[in-house]
Amino acid sequence: MDNLDQIVSEARAAFAAISDPDALEQAKARFLGKSGQITELLKGLGKLPPEEKKTAGAAINVAKTAVENALNKRREAIRKAALEARLAEEALDVTLPGRAEAGGGLHPVTRTLERIESLFASIGFEVADGPEIEEDFHNFTALNTPEDHPARSMHDTFYLQNPDGSLADKVLLRTHTSPIQARYMQAHVAKYGRLEKMPEIRIIAPGRVYRVDSDATHSPMFHQVEGLWVGENVSFADLKGVIADFLKSFFETDDLTVRFRPSFFPFTEPSAEIDVAFMSGALKGRWLEIAGCGMVHPNVLQIAGIDPEKYTGFAFGFGPDRLTMLRYGVNDLRLFFEGDLRFLRQFA
Ligand code: PHE
Repeated sequence: MDNLDQIVSEARAAFAAISDPDALEQAKARFLGKSGQITELLKGLGKLPPEEKKTAGAAINVAKTAVENALNKRREAIRKAALEARLAEEALDVTLPGRAEAGGGLHPVTRTLERIESLFASIGFEVADGPEIEEDFHNFTALNTPEDHPARSMHDTFYLQNPDGSLADKVLLRTHTSPIQARYMQAHVAKYGRLEKMPEIRIIAPGRVYRVDSDATHSPMFHQVEGLWVGENVSFADLKGVIADFLKSFFETDDLTVRFRPSFFPFTEPSAEIDVAFMSGALKGRWLEIAGCGMVHPNVLQIAGIDPEKYTGFAFGFGPDRLTMLRYGVNDLRLFFEGDLRFLRQFA
């Protein structure tokens, strides 16, 4: 009988050490299979004398049941463990935070452009557009800029090459957004020129412009916003009023002074640079140049097909990059165009 106890405990230990279902079935054979230890004992019963057969048979059956119970328990444990492993693997953790879309933000200069557009929209200015690769005609000729003007030199303007390397004839990267006013006036005249009274032109034209220039305050690519108002009796006084109102709205303060300093542009006469000085804050009392402006030159109106005796107009060109620097206190223009997210995120 000691032998039986030993077989049972051996079987229990063997089953307990197994966690693979196939290996468990093989271990079962060692005890309960055709020539398993328990089976062999049962076979041996026949050789015992009749009086011993009964007690021995009963004892073997007790041991057999014990081995079977141990086997079933282990089978069940292995099945449960497998199920649990699968459930854990397939589990959906609904408490995990979701994967958020990375929220982008508008570039600070884009913010400024949108702000300028909406401020001018509120006084009836439409937004006009034009190509960045511009014809020499619209960029210079239509704007009364003579052939020998220094702005037309290769030192100042990016010209374009043909695929064979030769200089492309009469196309360039626009050096200002003023060609948009030339194009717009032509289109306006084509549409309304026959009318006795031509509707007013009131546009702003934001966009990228290009010049051969690069340092802390100049980038070869920068932005301008051109403004144009043409109609009957449009005067320099209107220009001053529009600009002063705009600057106060843009900087959200009445605490600034605007100065018109006589200057020269081929396409305006008289012409002025617009300077602004804040009466308080870090930049208090310093004159900062922020735009060029003037009354549209009669030649420019004439080239566009507008009668300069009947209509007058003013134009201005702002540097929105400069306006953005002033508004947010940025001291290096290049920061805007380097694409450094540590800088850009501060505006998002
Ligand atoms: N286009 C001029 C420049 O780039 C600015 C300007 C625009 C001046 C309109 C006068 C009128 O310097």
